[in-house]
Amino acid sequence: MTRVIREIREVREYVEMLKRNRFSLGFVPTMGALHDGHCSLMRQSFRENDRTAVSIYVNPLQFLPGEDFEKYPRQFECDLARCEEEKVDIVFAPTVAAMQPLGRSTVVKVEGVSHEYEGRVRPGHFDGVATVVSSLFNVVQPTRAYFGQKDYQQTVVLRRMVRDLHVPVDLVICPIVRDPDGLAMSSRNVYLSADDRAEALRLARAIVAGERAVQSGETSGDRLRAILRDAMSSPRADVTIDYADVVHPDTLVPIQSIESRAVLIAVLRVGRVRLLDNAIVAAPGAPSGGA
Ligand code: PAJ
Repeated sequence: MTRVIREIREVREYVEMLKRNRFSLGFVPTMGALHDGHCSLMRQSFRENDRTAVSIYVNPLQFLPGEDFEKYPRQFECDLARCEEEKVDIVFAPTVAAMQPLGRSTVVKVEGVSHEYEGRVRPGHFDGVATVVSSLFNVVQPTRAYFGQKDYQQTVVLRRMVRDLHVPVDLVICPIVRDPDGLAMSSRNVYLSADDRAEALRLARAIVAGERAVQSGETSGDRLRAILRDAMSSPRADVTIDYADVVHPDTLVPIQSIESRAVLIAVLRVGRVRLLDNAIVAAPGAPSGGA
């Protein structure tokens, strides 16, 4: 049975009990509207830990004014059922008042890697993510925390935060889960009409085209950027490229020529929905391995 906890005090009691028993705890932070991408993180945590906790919290700090905070899909009962299926031990679903009873004065800001790409389009977004994740880590005190490669820049920001602040947690980055047509799963895909979805597939196809080019020996950053952009461009005026780049896996600095590993990152805007995708690539002959 999955236990739902809404109070921080109650999580602390549970965590104390785990510590007394020397149980490891895997933690999957989410904003709900759970899909198979989230569930893959839960499954990996289940395999690697004695207990698994999932948080469901739509974090106001990471939404900009005018974004979809109010409209963000909320479906607690359905989410809880998915957590039960995945044998999650704890669902921590606090209210905003519980997470920030005094409002918020303290901000965790990860300079450098937060500023470009998503950070440029959504200024302040990663401050909100880093702040809530460090807050959640302080409450849940997990042994390991699971994040999806789908939000690649988020993983870079959080990895840097954990290193800089010596947070005692292991971050585990899990592969992107896709629908059968190739579209990376996202809670925001529900906003897409059937026509939009056909347009959205340009993004997944662009990433595959980029990966194939690297596999066939293409190392030029500029030529790869051109391949991504070509595959993403659409005759529809409301389908636009936010960015399409080839970057260093840790610093997110654009790469001129791939020597070992790089990340293809791209965002396509379809109507009012922004779709993110990426792939970690390695030049032929370069040592492979996680990001
Ligand atoms: P959310 O968008 O709910 O995503 C929760 C976790 O699921 C993130 O680590 C995300 O990268 C991962 N995820 C989403 N789609 C995925 C997919 N298709 N394949 C694999 N993993 C996927 O990301 C957030 O929430 C928030 O920023 C959060 C970290 C919870 C802080 O509020």
